Amino acid sequence: MGRVAIVTGGASGIGQAIVRKLAQAGNAVAVLDLDADAALAEAKEVEAAGGTALGLPADVADREAVDAAVSRVAAELGRPTIVVNSAGMSLHRSFLELTTEMFEKIVRINLSGTFNVCHASLPHLLEEGWGRIINISSSSVHSGVPRMSSYVAAKAGVVGLTKTLSLEFADRGVTANAVAPGSVDTPMLRRTIGAGDIPQGFLPPVGRLGVPDDMANAVAFLASDEAGYITGQHWSINGGRSTSSW
Ligand SMILES: NC(=O)c1ccc[n+]([C@@H]2O[C@H](COP(=O)([O-])OP(=O)(O)OC[C@H]3O[C@@H](n4cnc5c(N)ncnc54)[C@H](O)[C@@H]3O)[C@@H](O)[C@H]2O)c1
Repeated sequence: MGRVAIVTGGASGIGQAIVRKLAQAGNAVAVLDLDADAALAEAKEVEAAGGTALGLPADVADREAVDAAVSRVAAELGRPTIVVNSAGMSLHRSFLELTTEMFEKIVRINLSGTFNVCHASLPHLLEEGWGRIINISSSSVHSGVPRMSSYVAAKAGVVGLTKTLSLEFADRGVTANAVAPGSVDTPMLRRTIGAGDIPQGFLPPVGRLGVPDDMANAVAFLASDEAGYITGQHWSINGGRSTSSW
């Protein structure tokens, strides 16, 4: 494809698979992640495999850091036109135990972080007259999930934000879609299972957990020229699971 992509949360799990898939497709990829060492290591990994990448340590919740990161991408890789927001953090806590600070932290990372990266990058997509925004939501927004109110609320906000962006920029060559993963075998899911927050052995109808590449395949398609007529969609990639209630 030969474009420039920014992937937040690109140092682990779903984001990492997206970084690799987009790089294999010939895009230069900025790996933006809070984990500085992992972001730099992932960029090195892509370069070692023959691709072009830039490790970008940054917190998506910090607007100044995001602005600086997007400027670096434009200066060092070229104008970004593919933006994938995969950075996220989950929290399992009963509603009454949740504090305002906890709620706001989860919203800041998952929703405001997505806003920051879209807002900082969009001028480049509009300048190019071609762009792809792909935001990672969660299948949990379809049903709600007990003990995940902050996360589900933030991810539902991501869906609303994405749909609105799709309408505001539909006539300027920019699509915006959200991908809703079900249960995907990543460090996040393993931490959740390890903490006893979801039942061990849970499987969706296809009989296996998702793997990060299942999500990356969908994202790579949405990022392609072929997906230019698809916008404002919330695409469930979940092995047939239609609800998140265990
Ligand atoms: N794994 C699942 O089953 C599942 C299901 C539904 C949705 N999701 C969503 O998919 C996305 C990726 O999740 P994953 O399972 O790959 O998780 P993961 O924990 O393996 O990776 C998340 C990455 O995001 C980074 N990150 C966290 N906070 C950040 C911040 N403030 N700024 C920049 N980077 C930050 C982490 O350092 C990490 O590298 C998340 O948005 C998550 O909510 C995951």
